[in-house]
Amino acid sequence: MSVMYIRGGTPLEGELTVHGAKNSVLPILAACLLAGGPVTLHNCPRLTDVDAALAILRHLGCGIRQEGRSVTVDPTEAAGSAVSEEQMRSMRSSIIFLGPLLARTGEAHLTYPGGCELGPRPIDLHLAAIRALGCQVTEDRGIHCTGKPKGGEVQLSLPSVGATENAMLCAVGGTGTTTIVNAAREPEIYDLQCFLNGLGARVRGAGGSTVTVEGGLLLHGGEYTVMGDRIVAATLLSACAAAGGRIRLRGVDWRHLSTVLSVLHQAGCRVQSRSEYVELFRDRAKPLRAVPTVRTAPYPGFPTDAQAPVMAALAASEGCTLFVETMFDSRYRHVAELRRMGADITTEGRVALVRGMERLHGANVEAPDLRGGGALAAAALGAEGVTVLSGLHHIDRGYEGLETMLSSLGGAVSRRDD
Ligand code: UD1
Repeated sequence: MSVMYIRGGTPLEGELTVHGAKNSVLPILAACLLAGGPVTLHNCPRLTDVDAALAILRHLGCGIRQEGRSVTVDPTEAAGSAVSEEQMRSMRSSIIFLGPLLARTGEAHLTYPGGCELGPRPIDLHLAAIRALGCQVTEDRGIHCTGKPKGGEVQLSLPSVGATENAMLCAVGGTGTTTIVNAAREPEIYDLQCFLNGLGARVRGAGGSTVTVEGGLLLHGGEYTVMGDRIVAATLLSACAAAGGRIRLRGVDWRHLSTVLSVLHQAGCRVQSRSEYVELFRDRAKPLRAVPTVRTAPYPGFPTDAQAPVMAALAASEGCTLFVETMFDSRYRHVAELRRMGADITTEGRVALVRGMERLHGANVEAPDLRGGGALAAAALGAEGVTVLSGLHHIDRGYEGLETMLSSLGGAVSRRDD
C-alpha cells in the first residue's frame, strides 16, 4: 500500500501549470463515440478515472493511443452498446456513456453506477432526459435504453452537471432540435460544447441555463485541448493558504475560481488574478481569519468539490467558520480525519462548524474520498510534524501526481510503499 509522507511547516513557493480537468475530460472521452473519425485530446490528465473511461471505450471497440498527456480515440470500428457492471463500478461517472451510446447505436445497456462515498448518487434526471428525447428506458437488473433520440425539451428539475451533459450528448447524435432547460452552468459543460462544435456539432448556450442542440449533423474527427482543472487549482491554493508562502498557477481561468478566491481573500490571503495566472500569497507569520459562512452551490456558486480543501485551510485560523454543504449528503467525511490532526470541527447534517485553532499537528490519516484526500494533504502542509496519508487510490482518481505537484512547490511530500 502506498502512503504519502508530508512534513508540515515549510511555506510553499513556486509556479506550476495545472493539469487538464477530470470533470471535463470524462464527458469529452465519452463524446468521442459520436465522432466520425479519430479524435486527439491534449492536456488529458493521467488519472485512474481516465484509465477507467479509456477501458470502457476499448471494450466498446474504439482504438486508443496514448502518448504522455495526448490521447487519440478512434471510434470508427466501435460497435458495442453495453458497459459491464465491473466497468460501471470502476468509475462513478460511467453513466456519462449512456447518451453517446444511445445516439451512436440506438441502444445502451448499463448497470447502476451505485452509491458512492458522497452518499447516494441518483440518476433519475439522466433517465428523464433520455425519455424526453424519445427513447425507451427499462430498469430491470440494469438500465436498458433503446431508440434513436429525437429532438425535444429536456426540463431538469435541478441543474445536474451529469444529466445536462448526457442530454447534450444524446441530442447531438439524434435528429431534430433539443432545448435543455435549467441546465447546469459549470465551465466543464462549456468545454464540452466547444469540443463538440469543433467536431461539427451545433450546440449553443452552455455556461447559461438553456442549452440548445441541433441534432442530425455528422461529426468528424479532430483535435482538442482540455481546459485546466479548477478544483486541482483550488486544492493547491488551499494548501498554500494552510502552509503560507506564495504560489502562481497557470493553465486555469481565475474566473472559474472566483468564489474560492474570494473566501481565501477574506481569510487574509493576498490574491492576484491575471489572464495568464492566479497567484496567492499568505504570510505564515500571520494567522488566517475565519470567514462568516461558506455555502456550496451549483456554479457559479462555491463548488462542493472545493469545500473540503478550503475547510482544511480554515481549520487553523482565528475565529469560527460555518460551512453549509447543499449538494451531497456525505461530504464531511474528511472532518473525522482533520480531527485526528487536532481540528475542532462539529457537524450536524449539512452544517459544519469549524472553530479555528492556532495550528494542527501531524497524524496518521486516511483519504475518505477524492477531494477529502486533497484536503488532508493541504492540512498536513500547514500542520506541525509529519502526517502519513493513506487511501491514495481516491486521490489518484482526480489529481495527477499530487505529491509531485506539491513537492515542486517546495512542500516536503513524498510517496512511499509502506
Ligand atoms: C459533477 C462532478 C462532481 C461535482 C458535482 C457537483 C463530474 C464528473 N463530477 O458530478 O465532481 O461534485 O458535479 O458540482 O463532473 N442528482 C439527482 N438526480 C440525478 C442526478 C443528480 O438527484 O439524476 C442530484 C445529486 O444527488 C446532487 C445534485 O443533483 O445532489 C448535483 O449532482 P450532479 O450535478 O449531477 O453531479 P455529478 O454530475 O454527479
